[in-house]
Amino acid sequence: MVRIRVRRVAAGRRDNPSNETRAQRLKAVVRDRYGGPEVLELKEVPAPTAGPGEVLVRVRAVSINDWDWGLLVGDFVNRMLAGPLRPKFAILGSDIAGVVEAVGSGVEDLEIGDEVFGDLSGRWGGFAELVAAPRAALALKPAVMSFPQAAALPQAGALAVQGLIDRGEIRPGQSILINGAGGGVGTLGVQIARTFGVETTGVDSAAKLDVMRAAGYRHVIDYETEDFTRNGRRYDLILDVKTNRSPFAYLRALQPGGTYVTVGGSILRLLQLLVLSPVIRLASGKRLRIVSLELNKGLDYLSELFEAGKLRPVLDDLRPLSELPAAMKVFGAGRHKGKVVILLP
Ligand SMILES: NC(=O)c1ccc[n+]([C@@H]2O[C@H](COP(=O)([O-])OP(=O)(O)OC[C@H]3O[C@@H](n4cnc5c(N)ncnc54)[C@H](OP(=O)(O)O)[C@@H]3O)[C@@H](O)[C@H]2O)c1
Repeated sequence: MVRIRVRRVAAGRRDNPSNETRAQRLKAVVRDRYGGPEVLELKEVPAPTAGPGEVLVRVRAVSINDWDWGLLVGDFVNRMLAGPLRPKFAILGSDIAGVVEAVGSGVEDLEIGDEVFGDLSGRWGGFAELVAAPRAALALKPAVMSFPQAAALPQAGALAVQGLIDRGEIRPGQSILINGAGGGVGTLGVQIARTFGVETTGVDSAAKLDVMRAAGYRHVIDYETEDFTRNGRRYDLILDVKTNRSPFAYLRALQPGGTYVTVGGSILRLLQLLVLSPVIRLASGKRLRIVSLELNKGLDYLSELFEAGKLRPVLDDLRPLSELPAAMKVFGAGRHKGKVVILLP
């Protein structure tokens, strides 16, 4: 898209008093220690400003990701990333959709009023009315996509694209299985997979099977009553969001020459995969691969699928920012279906 007019202002600019008043303080959900959803508090905090190469975004919707949960409770990996004892990031929330409120110096291709979305992992700050985002983390939101739909896409959609296409090398006619199919990655992944003309199977808990069928899975398996690695069926491609078995279990469920791709799960199991995959490849011809998320890679592709009517995020209940702790509780218990999205005015 060619932009002719570019208006650049600093956040909280002096020549627009109403903008400054609004931008000085804002509501955000903050925390000052690791813990469950009870450590989250809705507070007024100073507004961020857009630095060089940054964009100030008025957040209209933000979704919850597993990474937010890990940073909230402070699991081992996230403590190593974000402070062993006290969290470095007070405001979590990465996947935002909103409206450009101001642009910092060096940002030439976005202007006030543009509707954008993206994954701010590494910076976070999305559980707030305003967030300062690196320009590189944002894409223009298609007009036909609502803010909640846009907020549901970035991280889970990128994991699905990178897992199925980049690492999984999905091909027409294959039989594929997604484990952990009723959450964000699984409900987007099935729709992406179907555009390749593959046969899809999804595995998750009984409460999610209906939503999985509605999202497009041809076959569904309740993991509490059936182990897909022991039922005798074989798949050309498995995408796993919950790696919790030995690599040999996944080998059993793969066709000759098949590929298993994981986006996450138990650290111990992921390390086993990393160590054993070269030997397994040589011995069996099957591939075991791990996705290392490239933030926001694939957003344009997801937008194209959306605009073509081939992708619709599955949204759990939409809640206001004040209900983020309750929404986090549902997420942490794994009771959500599809994506949990917080809606802001
Ligand atoms: N690779 C990277 O660089 C990277 C970056 C960011 C995130 N991640 C990972 O990406 C994943 C995010 O996936 P997501 O957004 O789809 O998460 P999600 O929305 O939480 O979905 C996970 C689903 O798995 C189900 N589940 C739980 N235990 C299961 C089991 N034993 N067997 C089958 N299903 C099970 C959950 O439902 P129930 O609880 O009802 O069972 C839930 O529906 C996480 O693993 C995260 O760590 C990876």
